[in-house]
Amino acid sequence: MSSADSAPTGQTETETQTQTQTQPQQRPRIVGPPEPQPPYPILVSGAVVKGFGRGGKQLGIPTANLAEDAVERTLRDIPIGVYLGWAQIAGEPQQQQQQQPVWPMVMSLGWNPYFQNERRSGEVHVIHNFDEDFYGRTLNVAILAYIRPERNYDSLDALIADIHFDIDVAHRSLAREAYQRVKELDFFSAEISKDGSSSSSD
Ligand SMILES: Cc1cc2nc3c(=O)[nH]c(=O)nc-3n(C[C@H](O)[C@H](O)[C@H](O)COP(=O)(O)O)c2cc1C
Repeated sequence: MSSADSAPTGQTETETQTQTQTQPQQRPRIVGPPEPQPPYPILVSGAVVKGFGRGGKQLGIPTANLAEDAVERTLRDIPIGVYLGWAQIAGEPQQQQQQQPVWPMVMSLGWNPYFQNERRSGEVHVIHNFDEDFYGRTLNVAILAYIRPERNYDSLDALIADIHFDIDVAHRSLAREAYQRVKELDFFSAEISKDGSSSSSD
């Protein structure tokens, strides 16, 4: 098993942040065991809030920022770093009964050392081209594997190159059957609300 297969344990956030950059090509192209193992899947739902707006403009990689309460409530005990999994943007109120598509995603959980953020954030890049942004909508995320620690970079280009490599890792890792099956979870079904109760669809 490679060291990137599971989140580091016993590592402080400061240690994680100060890891030096490695060349993307030195990293494994597939992460996680053949089937997701506990604690995965980690399921989190939260409103999409405005970040600093750098994702789309500076990086060319739009991110949906999860509201702080979702990050603090559900992701408080998870080591900071970059993760992969599936994401779904819940429908507008008039589409609540309609099943929405589930897309691959990569997620950064942490402090964005390159931008020296002061608050921990959960930023999801949904791997699909959308015409519109989805501020205020609910984002359902199933985190399935840890990819790498957050890093600081010498240049924006190096950060962008690493995120493109993360996207490639996500595609390859999620192509496995057991990872595909997670898309069928009730969590992503339109009739199940995220507090676990069924909506009135009878
Ligand atoms: C898959 C992924 C990996 C990321 N990795 C890092 C990282 O290693 N270091 C870092 O400083 N920021 C990292 N970021 C965070 C970007 O810096 C962040 O998404 C960008 O600043 C946009 O934030 P904003 O929407 O709040 O403006 C990553 C983001 C994503 C989606």
